[in-house]
Amino acid sequence: MGNTDLPIGIFDSGFGGLTVARAVWDQLPNEDIVYLGDTARAPYGPKSIPEVREYAIECLDHLYGMGVKALVIACNSASSAVLRDARERYDVPVVDVILPAARRAVRATRNGRVGVICTVATANALSYDDALTAVPDVELHTAPCPLFVEYVERGVTGGPELLDLTRQYLAPLQFADVDTLILGCTHYPLLAGVISYVLGEGVTLVSSADECARETYQSLTDLELVHEQPRAATRRFLTTGSPEMFEGIGRRLMNGFVDRVEQVVTVAS
Ligand code: DGL
Repeated sequence: MGNTDLPIGIFDSGFGGLTVARAVWDQLPNEDIVYLGDTARAPYGPKSIPEVREYAIECLDHLYGMGVKALVIACNSASSAVLRDARERYDVPVVDVILPAARRAVRATRNGRVGVICTVATANALSYDDALTAVPDVELHTAPCPLFVEYVERGVTGGPELLDLTRQYLAPLQFADVDTLILGCTHYPLLAGVISYVLGEGVTLVSSADECARETYQSLTDLELVHEQPRAATRRFLTTGSPEMFEGIGRRLMNGFVDRVEQVVTVAS
């Protein structure tokens, strides 16, 4: 039996999961959240699946140990590596980003051609291919965008260099005539401006952040774990890296959503 008064634990390799955290906060404003960004070991995208798995389990164990009523893996790369294990390991709902976004893309596409941009780890794990395998008449085109995460982690979301890179990354998807694009890394909603500038209005962007927040809402509501009455909910932010750096970049990227960042010393070497 879950405890309504516990916070929702949200985890990502770094800042990207903050897009999910903000969507969860918007949709569940009466719920406390505790966010852990493994910035000391980000990016996860270029790492092997076993390595990502080890780091992700450590972070999830840490959040679970603090006491949470749900765990949100706000990272496609980590979801690709640990989702199944995590669902067996923890006795609280574990929400991921991949399935909810894939489902939304299926509903959104008009021509059946869906693109996904993601990290190399997510592309190699074929996570979106698996999620869409049983869906007829949908053709998936995958484009890994390995350098995007580094731009976001530096707080850079625009400028000619990024625009040029975006054009290069998205060219194969434009050639494939996709009409729907899954932002298959939680860092990428922070680059939605440059992505839609390049693709134009005809392509629908599906953010895994919004979809994951919706899934979190549904899961907690089904288990009757949401606060019914309005209350002053709290946000806590933990990082395995420098709290000052996390707070500075986090605040800039998320317009003040991030405050009071604490360092986690029990995770990461
Ligand atoms: N935000 C993460 C994702 O959704 C990973 C980014 C990274 O650390 O490479 O895949």
